[in-house]
Amino acid sequence: MKADITPQEYETFKSFLQDACGILLGENKQYLVKSRLRRIMAEHELATLGELLERIKRTSRGNLREVVVEAMTTNETLWFRDSHPFRILQEKLLPEFADARTGGQSLRIWSAAASTGQEPYSVAMIIEEFRRQRPDKLRNVKIIATDISGSVLEVARRGEYEMLAIGRGLSPERQKQFFTPTLSGSWQIKPNIRSMVEFRELNLLERYLLGKFDIVMCRNVLIYFSAELKKDILTRIHATLNPGGYLILGASESLNGLSDLYEMVHCKPGIIYQKK
Ligand SMILES: C[S@@+](CC[C@H](N)C(=O)[O-])C[C@H]1O[C@@H](n2cnc3c(N)ncnc32)[C@H](O)[C@@H]1O
Repeated sequence: MKADITPQEYETFKSFLQDACGILLGENKQYLVKSRLRRIMAEHELATLGELLERIKRTSRGNLREVVVEAMTTNETLWFRDSHPFRILQEKLLPEFADARTGGQSLRIWSAAASTGQEPYSVAMIIEEFRRQRPDKLRNVKIIATDISGSVLEVARRGEYEMLAIGRGLSPERQKQFFTPTLSGSWQIKPNIRSMVEFRELNLLERYLLGKFDIVMCRNVLIYFSAELKKDILTRIHATLNPGGYLILGASESLNGLSDLYEMVHCKPGIIYQKK
């Protein structure tokens, strides 16, 4: 980007981004916008943020809008992130659901901002480990993993990760059990884990036509949204939960003012929320 961002351009871009994906840019984040959009601006030979916004408005076809939104989102993730949610799944939620279920009744889990797949695949590994302990239980599990970004979902669907990404949170035992090395030196998730997860593109600002869930993980995405939008999304997630279903948030996230919808469950350590 050649020119500095004017205050008016910044305000217009802030509104564009919030409307497109919910991300609320703080004051003085012009440096962030500049650095995230530098490559796109150069590729499209655009000199100012105003020109980029005009181009997005004018081009109904093409994916410039999506590319800009993708550039502004943070896709940071890792295996078994924060560890507590996965221990809670292993020690509390899966045994609870397994005991309550009879016959082939399915367990449905939603990973609502799945990024490159580490979160839903970590859940699938925990389920596979649980099945080894109790082979007759939880045979019918579906994990729906969604994200606004098509390009992170492409990586997730491929399920192939470089050594650097594999090293972030995955134990050598799980790496050996659940991945196979590829000829190019990366590691691919095994089909039995891969087949538990279905990836779909979904913007959390839009309608959720995914059916009902027993567990929803919505982690490390609401922190980028306004308090009002966060409340709206958590209310709509509540509607997707089966009676007694659970919501799991990120380590630094909490429910504010939704105590009429969710009951806080202290798992020591870790907190999850149960649909009231
Ligand atoms: C920081 S990652 C979190 C990944 C994973 N949940 C974790 O905790 O490791 C946030 C993800 O949210 C996605 N995202 C941002 N805005 C979104 C929206 N409006 N709808 C759906 N996904 C969104 C981004 O594309 C990104 O992949």
